[in-house]
Amino acid sequence: MQEKIIILDFGSQTTQLIARRLRELDTFCEILPYNKFPVGDPSVIGVILAGSPYSVYDPEAFKVDLGLFLGHIPVLGICYGAQFISHTLGGRVEPADSREYGRANLTTIDQQCPLFHGFEPNSQVWMSHGDTITALPDGFHVVASTANVHFAAYQADDKPVYGVQFHPEVAHSLQGTQLLKNFVVDICGGHQDWSPKNFVEATVQELREQIGQDRVILGLSGGVDSSVAAVLLNRAIGRQLTCIFVDHGMLRKNEFQNVMHDYECLGLNVIGVDASDKFFADLDGVTEPERKRKIIGRDFIEVFDAEARKITDARWLAQGTIYPDRIESLNITGKVIKSHHNVGGLPEEMNLRLCEPLKWLFKDEVRRVGRQLGMPEYLITRHPFPGPGLAVRILGAITREKVRILQEADDIFIQGLRDQGLYDQVWQAGAILLSEVRSVGVMGDERTYENPIALRAVTSSDAMTADWARLSYDFLARVSNDIINKVRGVNRVCYDISSKPPATIEWE
Ligand code: XMP
Repeated sequence: MQEKIIILDFGSQTTQLIARRLRELDTFCEILPYNKFPVGDPSVIGVILAGSPYSVYDPEAFKVDLGLFLGHIPVLGICYGAQFISHTLGGRVEPADSREYGRANLTTIDQQCPLFHGFEPNSQVWMSHGDTITALPDGFHVVASTANVHFAAYQADDKPVYGVQFHPEVAHSLQGTQLLKNFVVDICGGHQDWSPKNFVEATVQELREQIGQDRVILGLSGGVDSSVAAVLLNRAIGRQLTCIFVDHGMLRKNEFQNVMHDYECLGLNVIGVDASDKFFADLDGVTEPERKRKIIGRDFIEVFDAEARKITDARWLAQGTIYPDRIESLNITGKVIKSHHNVGGLPEEMNLRLCEPLKWLFKDEVRRVGRQLGMPEYLITRHPFPGPGLAVRILGAITREKVRILQEADDIFIQGLRDQGLYDQVWQAGAILLSEVRSVGVMGDERTYENPIALRAVTSSDAMTADWARLSYDFLARVSNDIINKVRGVNRVCYDISSKPPATIEWE
């Protein structure tokens, strides 16, 4: 049984960060909506009540029945979580004179409190709250203070219940990870046994039991998640797994051949399907971005479905869905919303059971598992690439010739990044063909009237927000020269310097 910490979500943006910090401590944890604590689950060794955009006094504030776990397992409240516990048990929470926001230092720390083992005097923490605790409930005492916040942290006298009004999950809380480790290891008795090695061993075992002698099909995209899922399944069930890799004709230059080769070297049983004629035919003349996406999505399902049906005895459909795709996050109205799911809407009547071996992993954990499985580094660190491929990087109607032009320009850019050791410093990079714009240039003695290429490179940690990468002028100049000299049809190169928001990473 995998021991775990439950993180109850009250709608704060930093809830996922708590989970990622715990995973970095090799501790398994699960984020659940505040009202879905798994009562009676013996694998739960502790619970964290996370932050919230609400004040405990808001009529809509999310409330949880503390009796479900208080006194049974260790509890840590963070920010709203700490205020909620204090308020519910009879303490006092009031609006702070001024919103307490930013860096602060713990001027007093109770060295007897296990939560603060190993803390330096004056340790820096990050505050972000509008309310503040002004009196603790009976049976609680203060264990840390800052200059402005007397009850920066508290503890119950006779049971493992703790609260901190600062955010240990945020990097500005310099010993925040130490605090979380103290809670998980010393207070909850966690074993830090959530490692890629253990994950692979346990998952291979589970997959064998789950799947038995059945056959499984999996759609490969060339991306990290589906590739790691395939290699993991291959280790578990070998030739019972059939992978399908659909070429829609809008992949990067030589990508289909290269990726097929990589998959074969990894020992995967892969069927490559060149369906580019169908995609180009159906996209003929289409310029509107959403229509492009819809057509590609629909065609992809049709092609995949037709291939999958040839494997008549398949019982399972495997997918590289990862944890952030599935977390039921709360929106401010308190409704549980499911974030987008990778399931491509495969026809229900296929009647296949879903197998998602990476469904508990964050992206960085998927990469660690890939390394554990011995996959080559360049596959593991490959940039994200949109499912519709270059179709959403050609502004205007799509033709094979435009795809060829864009593939050449993109290849020069990406190879340049690799050659200069810059590839791993950016989250994602690529070229965009502005095929409906033409501008005048001069090449030799000739006047040209051709399309521009935009280059896009961004830094990001999760693609939710992104900033344009500060690539050097010298590097951009070389790439621009190379593209204009070598790619016929392009006479101008621009660099996209917009961040997300308000722009997005892709142009369409
Ligand atoms: P945006 O453009 O929304 O992109 O800032 C965020 C991330 O998602 C990728 N992306 C897609 N991935 N199918 C995908 O599989 C899509 O339709 C799609 N659109 C955008 C994008 O490359 C970036 O990593």
